[in-house]
Amino acid sequence: ATQPRFVHPLPMPPVIDAAATPYLVLQMRQSEQWLGLVDEAGKPLLTTVWGFGTPDGPVTTPGPTILARSDQPMQVLWENALPVAGHLLPIDDSIHMAMPTETTLEDGYVPTVVHLHGGHNLSESDGLPEAWFTQDFAETGRQFATELYDYPNDQPAATLWYHDHVLGLTRIHAGSGLVGMVLLQDATEAALVQAGVLPEAETALPLILQDRAFTADGQLYLPAFPDDPMPGGEGTVADELPPDYAGPLPSVLPEFFGDVPLVNGMAWPMQAVGPGQYLLHLLNASDSRFYVLRFDDPSVKAMLVGTDGGLLPKAVTVMDGDGVQQAGEQIVLAPADRVDLVVDFSHAAGHAVTLENVGPAFAPFVGLNPDGSLASGEGEEIETATGTSMGALMRFDVASCGPAPAASVEDGTVLDPHFADLSQALPDRIRQLGLFETEDDFGRPMPQLGLAEAGTDIGGNPVPFGPLGWDAPVTEVIHRGATEMWRIANFTDDAHPVHLHLVEFQLLARNAIDFADGGDGGDDVQPDGIPDGGAWSLGEALPIAPEDTGRQDTIWVGAHQSVDIVAHFDRAGEFVWHCHILSHEDNEMMRPYVVTDDPW
Ligand code: C2O
Ligand code: CU
Repeated sequence: ATQPRFVHPLPMPPVIDAAATPYLVLQMRQSEQWLGLVDEAGKPLLTTVWGFGTPDGPVTTPGPTILARSDQPMQVLWENALPVAGHLLPIDDSIHMAMPTETTLEDGYVPTVVHLHGGHNLSESDGLPEAWFTQDFAETGRQFATELYDYPNDQPAATLWYHDHVLGLTRIHAGSGLVGMVLLQDATEAALVQAGVLPEAETALPLILQDRAFTADGQLYLPAFPDDPMPGGEGTVADELPPDYAGPLPSVLPEFFGDVPLVNGMAWPMQAVGPGQYLLHLLNASDSRFYVLRFDDPSVKAMLVGTDGGLLPKAVTVMDGDGVQQAGEQIVLAPADRVDLVVDFSHAAGHAVTLENVGPAFAPFVGLNPDGSLASGEGEEIETATGTSMGALMRFDVASCGPAPAASVEDGTVLDPHFADLSQALPDRIRQLGLFETEDDFGRPMPQLGLAEAGTDIGGNPVPFGPLGWDAPVTEVIHRGATEMWRIANFTDDAHPVHLHLVEFQLLARNAIDFADGGDGGDDVQPDGIPDGGAWSLGEALPIAPEDTGRQDTIWVGAHQSVDIVAHFDRAGEFVWHCHILSHEDNEMMRPYVVTDDPW
């Protein structure tokens, strides 16, 4: 069905001020929500979703936006109040999965756990994948430590988010709506607002991007087997499973690309703005989709002021507003990425401005060419989303005159004078880690993390170069207080957004990598995911985009690339690092890591 575009107003999730209420109860509940879809006759179609809400408030997806203050701790009781009625989308219990033993998935019990993404979290309150709990805490997973989560919030102002993080079901639960934003505020940011450098916080717009697919009657849809067609008709999502596939059904997918863009839970919304400067808090809460964002009106200027972990040291122009759309005037937003953008609509007064996506249409992101255009795999064409249902996400209708927020931020304006630059730190340890694609027992692609050099595990046993599953013994054992550099090499043909819990890191370098091909002239990568010949080396240095600078918790690594990141690990306990393509983290692309106080 053709759905109306750019007529329904952008919804704003309810706001909860954690400074006023440092103890919050947030429930996961099921509800019916209007996501902007209509039937053939134009009548609104309600969608059954999972969302968050306070016990006496409405349930929404995205959940309430939590306003929190730096250094003001908060406590959250995340309650699983979902109906004991199973999942909204097809699950696949052949992959590793939170598996209750007394309460059962067949009876409709649903294990959940909530992670504050980007938070400087305590291990017990981190929302680890096996710290899950079913309805009313009837049953809990092996990593479960506490019902009540403590968040110290001891970190700078930043756009954070929360989402379900349960082992093997995160894609299903986030896809059903269990996501929300946290805006952490601090004195540095408040001073910038006070000085007129940044717009008033009240006028800022959170923009949570997701791509979804729907059945004809407006219900959430996820293909469950290789030829399961997309009801909307655009794009096919499961064609990478083997043609003669005879494994479990429903099956986890290599990736999922929906054909309907939601912004704050509304399909193709519109937002009225004044001819001034607005702060946008953009979050990519999609499963697998990378967005490459720009505005269709090149007179719109955009300054990048923050990335995952908060304010940049200085503002950077990412779209210069000179009226000419130049290559590279764009923002790559990988799954889980956030950017804070000050967008100047003053030269578009009286016009409509569309937020466009020129990323891949219904296919994985591979990387960028030097001019900022989409890289493609060898001998393949990459189709951009332009002209598809995913090519235009929302519209801003700019008033010709009237009130509008104002901000004086310019290229180079100092934003965070206290920015702790890790790039000059001498690392205590350098690790070489790898991203691999292997095959599971059913011939399905299985992405994995692992070592890109021989190492040892937590028991002191040698571990060879190669992929490791979630259950393999920990190999990243880090001394508390250490600064480490991780060189993460991607031996696969697609990009992966790598996320570390606990820390904010900085990107030092992005490089092409070369694999030895063993002289047989065949594929570079063997079925075990390991480069033929087992050797690789660094190639040319690649450009670093402004949105990959500053404090990061998620960084994409392009196909046949490596990134060097540096982080300071200051809190002891068990954490995880993983690919944030949800279909990958659910399917083995996640590893535990440990920060320990044990002697050096
Ligand atoms: Cu946003 Cu470990 O996740
Ligand atoms: Cu991945």
